[in-house]
Amino acid sequence: MTATGSVSEIGYTSMLTRDLAASMKNSADMFGLIETESNGKKAFFTAQNKHHEVVYTQSDQDALDHIGLVVSNSAELEAIRAKVDREAYQIVSEQPIEDHIEEGFAFVGPEGYTWQIYTEKLNYSMLKRGTLTADRLGHVNIQVTNAPTQVKFLQDVFNMSISDAIGDQHFFLRCNTDHHGVAVFTDREAKMHHHAWQAGNIMDLARLGDRLARKGGRLAWGPVRHGAGDNIAVYYVEPNGVVTEYYCDMETIRDPERPVRHFDPDDLYWINQWDGQVPPGILDFGVPPVKR
Ligand SMILES: [Fe+2]
Repeated sequence: MTATGSVSEIGYTSMLTRDLAASMKNSADMFGLIETESNGKKAFFTAQNKHHEVVYTQSDQDALDHIGLVVSNSAELEAIRAKVDREAYQIVSEQPIEDHIEEGFAFVGPEGYTWQIYTEKLNYSMLKRGTLTADRLGHVNIQVTNAPTQVKFLQDVFNMSISDAIGDQHFFLRCNTDHHGVAVFTDREAKMHHHAWQAGNIMDLARLGDRLARKGGRLAWGPVRHGAGDNIAVYYVEPNGVVTEYYCDMETIRDPERPVRHFDPDDLYWINQWDGQVPPGILDFGVPPVKR
């Protein structure tokens, strides 16, 4: 196995919340994830046979603690570590930050985002089942002030590939056959705008809309079919201010040489094929990376 430093999938996000109870209620009751563990200060949720795909920790701030990226073996881990050391990024932890991870390390990349790189145990036995609708965590959308620098980092350190580019403002990068695992949007400040979960089909998106409506919530946007990625998506805002995307029908890319697709940033087809509109303020949500 040649070490390349490739990330195989988006593992999880770990967020700080000022209201853990509200975030837990959101994950379990609103979105329908499985709670695998909680201790009053921290709670772990997943949509599949893993220990966690999202973690919430009680805090005095709403923020993104880190993003977890899975590598397939120790050689890939070491290859990324070598690049991180070469570029002298700040190491936050020589051990996995979260429990239930076999090996890994964490470091701070451009614009203050902390990345936890790790190999994971498979076939975690779930303690209980929720009213699950999502298949898995699929991607994160991070907003930055310097998108080209962030994109170069994701390409160089994690071997991610650009799938689509919206001028030089927004970029969609993949680490596997999903059209994107990380979307990088240019904005006024660094913040993770959303974490996105894959659904089976558009009726699952409808069921989330129904569930929110019954429980006093509201979708913030959608259903919409994006241009970049082709996914159909709905969005809603969580208690800590981050946005959850629930999507299906995303483009699958099997050709590693697929050319970058370019979209005109002035034509909102790239973000909304069906009606070319974006609700005012929807891109203002999100949680900033925690300062280290
Ligand atoms: Fe997304």
